[in-house]
Parts: sequence; structure tokens; C-alpha cells
Amino acid sequence: MASNYKSIIENGYNLAKSLKDEGKIATYIPELANVDPSMFGVHMTKNDGTDFGIGNYKEKFSIQSIAKVLSLTLAIKTIGEKVWNRIDVEPSGTKFDSLLLLESYKGIPRNPFINSGAIVICDILITHLDNAPKDFLAFVRNLSDLPTLSYSDKIADSEKATGYRNVALCNFIKSFGNIKNDPAVVLDFYFDMCSLEMNCQQLSYTFSFLANGGRKLSNGEKIITNSQSKRINALMLTCGFYDESGEFAFKVGLPGKSGVGGGIVALYPHNYTIAVWSPKLNPNGNSFRGMKLLEEVTTHSELSIF
Ligand code: DON
Repeated sequence: MASNYKSIIENGYNLAKSLKDEGKIATYIPELANVDPSMFGVHMTKNDGTDFGIGNYKEKFSIQSIAKVLSLTLAIKTIGEKVWNRIDVEPSGTKFDSLLLLESYKGIPRNPFINSGAIVICDILITHLDNAPKDFLAFVRNLSDLPTLSYSDKIADSEKATGYRNVALCNFIKSFGNIKNDPAVVLDFYFDMCSLEMNCQQLSYTFSFLANGGRKLSNGEKIITNSQSKRINALMLTCGFYDESGEFAFKVGLPGKSGVGGGIVALYPHNYTIAVWSPKLNPNGNSFRGMKLLEEVTTHSELSIF
């Protein structure tokens, strides 16, 4: 790896760590509240095969909404452009679990990364795959080269017991006819999908196909086309951070996706994929230290998609 990335990441890590961590850990999923808030790790996977990690980059965490990019990838791989008959590609400008815009857009979610959009993606996968939870897991196992990766029952059960907003979202969309399967089955799969756990090293590696024109870095296997990969990256840039997507593009300038577990993955097409984890979230639900670190990386490398 270019030695300057290593020192840029180290400097960014130390700077972000030295700041008062103003964020708050997510507690609305009770199991997430048990995480050590001082955890902080980062890992970069470069397309040239080199990599670099610092801090708690080998500790697993709940990737939560970051998994929505992988379920979208599988839906696009499975039914192609037909996905967009059911979901739009516009930033929502609202919180990730908002019900607000569904009324005016008649049950069509604004994009696949807010909860409503990801729930519709789960419905699509249930319709088109033999066994969506099993097939999705197999898909992520292959992408990550982690053959024993599993859903976390602890996290999924914790969210199943408390996820009233998601239950409301799914039923509300069903009332417009944009959920085809039993809402209880769709929600079970959605909660399983969000319960995946990875560490920063595994996460940056798993997402590296999106920095590589849709092909796995390790063996060149074509996951999706170059054009589909471009579109997923465009959606991450415009919608990956909910109502903070503009700010992330403004300050970092890379496609990325956050999760309430405090993880963020971002990538610089044809160059690198970076994953960062720090559980305390800013008021928009994105990792406080993670955002700072990524801003430092693109500012000091002077390289972004812009
Ligand atoms: O549905 C939820 O609320 C969580 N399983 C996922 C939300 C999430 O990660 C939003 N990310 N910033």
C-alpha cells in the first residue's frame, strides 16, 4: 500500500480519538447498548491487494444498515432494473425510520437504504429466491470469503422484540400493495439481515467488489456488472447517510454507508475500500469518530471522487 495512506489513516485515527467523543450509543435496539463505547477501529483494503488496520479493527460489531447495500446488490443481481418499479432512487432528507414520505409517494420508498426501502428489498428477495434468509447469507459468505458467517440471534431477537417502527413501516407499505408477502415473514428476514456482524477488516474486504467494477478482488468473480456497481455507488453517495448524505459527500467525497452499530464503509472506486467502527453516533445516527476519521483521510490524501 502507498505508505502515505498508512500515515494519513494513523494521523486521522489519532486526531479523531483525541476529540471528545460527542456521540451517543444507539440504545433503541437493547442489545446494541451492551457494546463498549470506547471501541475504535479502521481498516483499508486496497485494490492492489495490500491492506492496513489500526485500533480495534479485528473486533466484530453489528453492521446493521450497512447490510442494506448487500441485499440491494443481491436484488439487482436477481431481478435487475425491475427493482426500480418498487423503490425510488432519491435522497429522503428524513430519518432512516421515517414514515412521513410513504403517504405522499403511495408506499414507494424514496430509496433502498432507508428502512422502508430495505424492507421492500427483503420482500423482493423472498418472492424471487427459494429461501431468502439462507440464500442471502450464502451470498454474503461468498462475498466476504467467510464460510461460517451467521446471523446473530441475540441482535435479531432483540430487534424483533422492540422494532415497532419497522412493523409499522412494513404494514403501512403493505396497505399500498408494495409488500407482496406476509409482513411477519418479511420483517423476520429484515431483522436477520441487519444482525450480521463483521469486523472492519472483513467489512472493507466484503465491500471491495464495489471498488472493483462489481468483481471480487480475490478471484475476479463477477458479482454484478460495472454499470450496476456504478449505480449502487451513486446511491451510497446520495442516500448512504440519510439526512446527512449531503454532509458526507461535502466533507468526505466518497460513496459510503453507515449503520446504527457505529460502522461506516466507504470506497474510492478503483482504489480502496475503508471500514471504520466507533459506536457513539452523532445526532443523525452516524458514527461521530468514524465521520471525522474519513474526513481526515480524503482531506489529507487530497483524493476523492471529486
Ligand atoms: O431497522 C433498524 O432500525 C436497524 N436494524 C437498522 C438501522 C440503521 O442501521 C440505520 N443506520 N444508520
